[in-house]
Amino acid sequence: MSDWIQARVVGRQCWAESLYSVQFEAAISDFAAGQYIKVALDIDGERVGRPYSLVNAPGEQPIEIFFNAVPEGPLTTRLAALNAGDTVWMTATASGIFTLESVQPSRDLWLLATGTGLGVYLSMLRSPEPWRLFERVVLVHGVRLGADLAYRETLEAIAQRYLGRLTCVAAVSREAWPPGLSGRITDLLTSGALERHVGLTIDPAHSHVMLCGNSAMIKDTKLILEERGLVRHRRQVPGQYSTEQYH
Ligand SMILES: Cc1cc2nc3c(=O)[nH]c(=O)nc-3n(C[C@H](O)[C@H](O)[C@H](O)COP(=O)(O)OP(=O)(O)OC[C@H]3O[C@@H](n4cnc5c(N)ncnc54)[C@H](O)[C@@H]3O)c2cc1C
Ligand SMILES: NC(=O)c1ccc[n+]([C@@H]2O[C@H](COP(=O)([O-])OP(=O)(O)OC[C@H]3O[C@@H](n4cnc5c(N)ncnc54)[C@H](OP(=O)(O)O)[C@@H]3O)[C@@H](O)[C@H]2O)c1
Repeated sequence: MSDWIQARVVGRQCWAESLYSVQFEAAISDFAAGQYIKVALDIDGERVGRPYSLVNAPGEQPIEIFFNAVPEGPLTTRLAALNAGDTVWMTATASGIFTLESVQPSRDLWLLATGTGLGVYLSMLRSPEPWRLFERVVLVHGVRLGADLAYRETLEAIAQRYLGRLTCVAAVSREAWPPGLSGRITDLLTSGALERHVGLTIDPAHSHVMLCGNSAMIKDTKLILEERGLVRHRRQVPGQYSTEQYH
């Protein structure tokens, strides 16, 4: 049984066509950056709940989620229409193991996201863990169009706070977007263009890689990483890459 509590909408932002963030006031329990809660609405007499990564840092309010309205998606089409003062259901306890807990300290942390997969990394970058465990952090946001590059000002502010330690790269696949890179994350890894751009290489000795978002990207990137000798991270047997699949 889920521990549903009521959450009140206190803010909403539309970043691009079908791309939204919503902020809530809700008394959820402590969580670790990288975890998700479920958000639900009662639709035709049935509670329809879906998992969403938390964008806010642990201990910070409001609670925030970042999502795209999926055409025909029962929940997201309704979440996209929420306004301040509306209420939703939310699980009081966050779940998930896509966190930096038990990850071994190393030199470089690579955070690779497609689309709304960016959200989970905002929570991490706002928490102390990445800065305690790693010297350098590289965030790569893979999107179709430049207009989908949400939270750029937030990322710029974090980069200023950790000057010289955070590199943010936009990988835009369906239009030229200088000064970002053009193409899919996978192609930029295979060609070496991503690592040349950042000035660091991904290898098992120095890197931990996190993958979040589109399942096809995760599947293809895993193969590239495993060819380079990285192995999946497990709580009991630490490795060099971790994944969280949204769809
Ligand atoms: C652990 C976890 C965390 C998640 N966190 C987020 C998050 O932070 N932000 C977010 O946007 N989504 C996230 N998702 C996906 C989310 O739970 C929903 O599935 C999604 O928002 C669509 O909900 P829906 O009810 O409208 O449609 P669903 O009935 O859930 O899905 C309808 C169809 O859309 C596909 N789909 C689901 N999500 C997406 C997407 N993002 N883009 C394109 N197609 C999609 C599904 O594969 C399915 O074919 C997460 C999923 C998991 C498992
Ligand atoms: N973004 C939009 O403009 C837009 C607008 C309206 C609705 N939507 C809907 O929203 C949903 C999500 O769209 P999204 O653009 O956020 O997410 P997405 O389809 O997952 O695309 C995000 C990025 O991931 C890339 N990608 C896809 N498969 C990959 C793979 N196997 N390996 C590496 N990279 C891969 C895409 O490249 P490619 O471009 O090469 O696919 C794109 O750069 C879709 O259902 C879409 O129909 C999107």
